[in-house]
Amino acid sequence: MCGIVGYIGYEQAAPFLLGGLEKLEYRGYDSAGICLHDGQELVVKKAKGKLEELKKLTDNGACLQGTVGIGHTRWATHGEPSDVNAHPHLSDSCRFAVVHNGIIENYLQLKDYLMSKGVSFRSKTDTEVVAQLIEYYDEGDLVDTVIKVLAKLDGSYALGVISKDNPDEIIAVRKESPLIIGIGEHENYIASDVPAILAKTRKIYRLENNEIAILRRDSVQIINTDKEPVTKEIETVNWDIDAAEKGGYEHFMFKEIMEQPKAIHDTIAPRIKDGKIVLDEIHLTAEQIRSFRKINLLACGSAYHVGVVAKYVFEKLLRIPVEADLASEFRYRDPIVDEHTLTIVISQSGETADTKEAMKEAKRRGSHVISIVNVVGSAIACESDDVIYTWAGPEIAVATTKAYSTQLAVIYLIALHFGELLGTLAPEEYSRYVEELQTLPDKIGQILKNEEKVQYLASQLFNSRDVFFIGRNIDYALCLEGSLKLKEISYIHSEAYAAGELKHGTISLIENGTLVIALATHEPLIAKTISNMEEVRTRGANVLCLACEDHPEVEKVAQNTIYIPKACDMMLPSLAVVPLQLFAYYVASLKGCDIDKPRNLAKSVTVE
Ligand code: AGP
Repeated sequence: MCGIVGYIGYEQAAPFLLGGLEKLEYRGYDSAGICLHDGQELVVKKAKGKLEELKKLTDNGACLQGTVGIGHTRWATHGEPSDVNAHPHLSDSCRFAVVHNGIIENYLQLKDYLMSKGVSFRSKTDTEVVAQLIEYYDEGDLVDTVIKVLAKLDGSYALGVISKDNPDEIIAVRKESPLIIGIGEHENYIASDVPAILAKTRKIYRLENNEIAILRRDSVQIINTDKEPVTKEIETVNWDIDAAEKGGYEHFMFKEIMEQPKAIHDTIAPRIKDGKIVLDEIHLTAEQIRSFRKINLLACGSAYHVGVVAKYVFEKLLRIPVEADLASEFRYRDPIVDEHTLTIVISQSGETADTKEAMKEAKRRGSHVISIVNVVGSAIACESDDVIYTWAGPEIAVATTKAYSTQLAVIYLIALHFGELLGTLAPEEYSRYVEELQTLPDKIGQILKNEEKVQYLASQLFNSRDVFFIGRNIDYALCLEGSLKLKEISYIHSEAYAAGELKHGTISLIENGTLVIALATHEPLIAKTISNMEEVRTRGANVLCLACEDHPEVEKVAQNTIYIPKACDMMLPSLAVVPLQLFAYYVASLKGCDIDKPRNLAKSVTVE
């Protein structure tokens, strides 16, 4: 996510701004900038790359004078990482400067309107639209103008605004994206997160949605969008810096597991309008989509596991052959690919060498490539024909969670969009699926609220030596991810196995007490999965079953059961993966493993 800081007081603002941005680096970013009021006008300095670049550009802040200013570290969403796309963004006449964290979902319509009124834009960002709107609607009172502009914005935002004509105020606004107000002695601060202000104060206000803070050197006023005063309690933060960077959670992985409802919402909401899926990022005509005779999904690790789920989803909805392939294998098997093959490449980092080279191989053979990527401007994103970004925000933990979930969400978007275009999805079925897709964030939120049972089971099972994940159809696809999550952070050996295949050899490994985690959410095959559970149970296995809440019959065979809410079959992996992530997390935690940085692993494998 982007990082926001702001300072108003009697000291030079630049040192606080640069120091605060440093404390927000953990959030992940690709460019940074600051803007100060130097007594005459707004002066902006910004640079692509790490904060060091900005420090060099500003002589560590020394070249910028002023006692009021805002700063920003940018995690690119709209517009590739660059100096011009970095924040803060100025309005046309440089009278207003804005920093923003979030996504303005209707920014293109607003930008078109302003351009029709003669406003010229410098950047490709959604944020610049906010700065230009403030100038366009300005009638002198900054608070009134900001309130008027907020009414035009759809989406999520934390905003910091300063004005050339009013150097004694910072306006801060929050809707969905977090923003805090730090309360100092004759100075006040804004920040996306606590670490940025801890060196100055532990007294904060946490803005709620649609609250507006007006910061002056000796006062902080909070109002709502009707300009009514809002009374808030001052919170005293007792976190240390390390804990604060993880939002108070012990590990980034847990924080990112908890962020999944928002990450999925942010990924799907801008792409569903009036019940219809809108994927403008895909530059293929319906005829071109109809011309594809096969879909290949190429990825590594967890991203590959998304591809295996996608195989089941696409083949069911689109009725064309689909192959999910390990990128490192695809490259060297002289694959049968031509212009009638659609290639979908999946990668959180967008820099995985195997995946990048596999994509190039597919392109060389004439295939159109769509990539699903989390890092804007990454190599795979830039070199694919079309890119659909997941809006998961930076994923810091090596073991992916929210990126996996948002990749799945994009798969559903593509499957439904193509199904409608190909006519393989009846209109009422399409509408039902689109509605179901929008319920996923809440359902995942429910699962996250009831995670203590998973924690308890982890406490009973964390000493397991060998673990088998079994499932059929889409449950098998999910077994792959559940097994990898457990292996990569707890170092316990585990295998994912098609439940129907176990009896063809591997069942010989089942002995008394062997932990078998059976995924039985795929309704058409529950009975068969239950018989596979019986097969291992009679051989001594300790069976932990994961099923939908309306299938209590699994309890007849499983020693323990975790239930998830119902959803349409193809979307169940989005729900079932959450308990598996939590199980792996708690087991690894009980084993004292380095959860965010597991041994031997890197967040992005940029070598073959
Ligand atoms: C997943 O938890 C692992 N970190 C790893 O398997 C990862 O999914 C794989 O390396 C692919 O990375 P990418 O999504 O950045 O391409």
